[in-house]
Amino acid sequence: MVNVRPSLTTRIGQLELAYPTLMGSGCYGTGEEFAPFADLRKIGAIVLKSVTRLPRLGNPMPRIVHTSAGMLNAIGLQNPGIEWYLERELPKYSGRPCKLVGSVAGFSIDDYAYVTQRLAARSEIAAIELNVSCPNVASEGETFGCDPGLTARVVRAARAGTDKTLIVKLSPNVTDICAVAREAEAAGADALAVINTVRGMAIDVEAWHPRLANVSGGLSGPAIRPVAVLAVYEVAQAVKIPIVGQGGIETVTDALEFFLAGASAISIGTANFTDPRVPERIVAELEAYLARRGCASIDAIVGKANVGFATPHQYEGDEG
Ligand SMILES: Cc1cc2nc3c(=O)[nH]c(=O)nc-3n(C[C@H](O)[C@H](O)[C@H](O)COP(=O)(O)O)c2cc1C
Repeated sequence: MVNVRPSLTTRIGQLELAYPTLMGSGCYGTGEEFAPFADLRKIGAIVLKSVTRLPRLGNPMPRIVHTSAGMLNAIGLQNPGIEWYLERELPKYSGRPCKLVGSVAGFSIDDYAYVTQRLAARSEIAAIELNVSCPNVASEGETFGCDPGLTARVVRAARAGTDKTLIVKLSPNVTDICAVAREAEAAGADALAVINTVRGMAIDVEAWHPRLANVSGGLSGPAIRPVAVLAVYEVAQAVKIPIVGQGGIETVTDALEFFLAGASAISIGTANFTDPRVPERIVAELEAYLARRGCASIDAIVGKANVGFATPHQYEGDEG
């Protein structure tokens, strides 16, 4: 047992966080909606909703549906566009008692470069997260984050526009997430967020049509957690930069899985919709866990999952 209080401070690139907990983009608004229910001093940072160069109305409704396996969303990046955002919205956020991370989305390399440079220039913004799960209009709508080379071009363009910490948020909807991770690191990313939502679809069996107007959407919540834990574990072997683990975190046990798999910090998204006190509870319980295990800091458990405990593989594949 250690007698001192374990330290939860974390560093992601140059971003220093009092707590290793970020609030997922699109899941915590600007913090304002949560302030009456949650103590914003007890969270590391809020990742703001992704912003694009031009305003977007988003997809037609319904664009969020509940399934027994989690939440399916196809918001379609609704936002007022970077000019309005900088002029009218960002100034209102400056009094937040936690760090703010700006999230950039785009439909061309130039979009990412422009929005990153504009957003990062603002003092309210401590770091930038690149949401690369967007279609590239110059390449028949191919998702940037699904192609390692395209991801690298986005990261290089954004990197040229700022010295602030650049976090690249990886999509799980790829064959080899490590290939994308390596390219993002080589192109100048300071950290990786692992993972964004998993593509999915739900069908109304009485009406015989998709439940989302957009047909498909992104699945989030506990169902994607094992997918995310494995992605964090594999990406942590592939790169040296820190990882912000996310996907279905609801409890301290969930959070611990991510740290042990190799994440230096975690992000909480969907859980906030049902219980705004989840982040606070996780922080308190993390501290208690570290104290109980005799760990002086959160760093002591990062990547410490002992994979050598298993008996040698008898089969080549995972399944069956
Ligand atoms: C309603 C909703 C909106 C989201 N909007 C964004 C977004 O604008 N940009 C982004 O990078 N991720 C967005 N996400 C993804 C989350 O930030 C998070 O990475 C993902 O949901 C997995 O974590 P979770 O299972 O804890 O929610 C959104 C998720 C939800 C549920």
